[in-house]
Amino acid sequence: MLQSPSIPFSSWPNADTGADAWRCKFTRAGFKSVGGQPIVMDSVKGSRMWDIDGNEYIDYVGSWCPAIIGHADDRVLFFFLFPPDFVINECSKEACMGVLRLARAFTGKEKLIMFEGCYQGHADTFLVRDGSDVATLCLPDSPGVPRAATSETLTVPFNDLHAVRGLFETNKGEIAPVILEPVVGNSGLIAPKPDFLEAIRRITKENNALLIVDEVMTGFRLSYGGAQEYLA
Ligand SMILES: Cc1ncc(COP(=O)(O)O)c(C=O)c1O
Repeated sequence: MLQSPSIPFSSWPNADTGADAWRCKFTRAGFKSVGGQPIVMDSVKGSRMWDIDGNEYIDYVGSWCPAIIGHADDRVLFFFLFPPDFVINECSKEACMGVLRLARAFTGKEKLIMFEGCYQGHADTFLVRDGSDVATLCLPDSPGVPRAATSETLTVPFNDLHAVRGLFETNKGEIAPVILEPVVGNSGLIAPKPDFLEAIRRITKENNALLIVDEVMTGFRLSYGGAQEYLA
């Protein structure tokens, strides 16, 4: 087994050391408007975290997503030291952007279908009536996103096969992929109706379009193989 000691952030070169200096930085950054003392984490390993005062915590939250297998697992660190020959992407938004570009290149088409309430990251193209950030901020739209960036993005309600078929009909030969969360986690929890995903797969095949299943939230959670294994 590889031994990889967790390196306290406070010992990074040039870091301002001392618990108070760190707390001060974070207090300035955000806590001044809400009050209270921020807890500042110093190091992590497995399921545990230690703050700059030396208190130990169990991380039940998993950093809200990325630390799904815990922190600084030796096998994962080894993987980063000697990466294999395939692409890994630690930013899901970029993964979604990349796979959309691939789908467009592969099919030679430009339009995409996504579903209301689904979130595929905050790339301009996807910021059309989605859940997550935009809904949370109660914005009717996404200020700052030019109309041109979303002109090829078509949206329909989740679970509405009729609407999907309609879009393929009115945009014949123009749709590159359908992209979706197989179980929508970004606007509550919306399960797909029985046969919905299979039907989408059939429709995309019939129209020479691709189906992109964004398993950022469902991957490893619904099952080891994500929604695609769980719902199969
Ligand atoms: C389903 C889904 N796709 C993509 C993203 C974008 O992920 P990131 O914030 O890592 O770019 C998220 C983020 O919550 C997500 O829930």
